[in-house]
Amino acid sequence: MKLTLKIWRQKNNKAKGELKTYPIDGIEGDMSFLEMLDVLNEELINKGDEPVVFDHDCREGICGACSLQINGEPHGPDRLVTTCQLHMRMFKDGDTITIEPFRANAFPVIKDLMVDRTSFERIQQAGGYVSVNTSGNTIDANTIPVNKQDADDSFNAATCIGCGACVAACKNVSAMLFTAAKVSQFALLPQGKVEATERVLNMVAQMDKEGFGNCTNTGACEIECPKGISLENIARMNREYLSASLKG
Ligand code: SF4
Ligand code: FES
Repeated sequence: MKLTLKIWRQKNNKAKGELKTYPIDGIEGDMSFLEMLDVLNEELINKGDEPVVFDHDCREGICGACSLQINGEPHGPDRLVTTCQLHMRMFKDGDTITIEPFRANAFPVIKDLMVDRTSFERIQQAGGYVSVNTSGNTIDANTIPVNKQDADDSFNAATCIGCGACVAACKNVSAMLFTAAKVSQFALLPQGKVEATERVLNMVAQMDKEGFGNCTNTGACEIECPKGISLENIARMNREYLSASLKG
């Protein structure tokens, strides 16, 4: 395939960015989107130009690093896949592909297509954990009975990889789906009940402090989420938040 790439280039957080055009040839359908960018970068390096900076790590859909806005969609046109698992067969010979970083004030651009998503880490640090005494007296988790549906729902919420596509898809740049997934994975389990009140209050407070917008239930986050995290998690977090506020 021959393609035209329009790629956001920005030297650093302070610099003004712009879309630059790069023609590329010899792209095969079985390549991943990141492999296609690797081919471009090889060419740029061989010509003595600066390669395009983009974030990636696992390249198998589990780390959430490869967050790109492709033709206006987080992670591109396929469903339930991350950018690293997006295949070039989703595009046609002669296509023009626009590639931008995720756009949100809480995700400032570091360089080109790489953004700083440590705001998500701070939300996680505000309560996305269970405090456990690891002194050697820890009870085996399997000794605590958990309803099968709750276990499955908790597991599904825990599959959120923190990629930020929900934020990039949302016209309000809301981080509710991410935060709700992180709250839900504990709210559904007996182990998570002990710190439930502080967890939801602290995580939502941190989410607001980071400058993410409010949720107006457009559902765009659920559609673009590569892990299929359901809007039900937002409803659950709202219930948790209400009950925690009444207690507080
Ligand atoms: S909820 Fe989905 S889109 Fe949002 S960070 Fe988690 S995996 Fe990514
Ligand atoms: S590089 Fe890890 S999810 Fe894509």
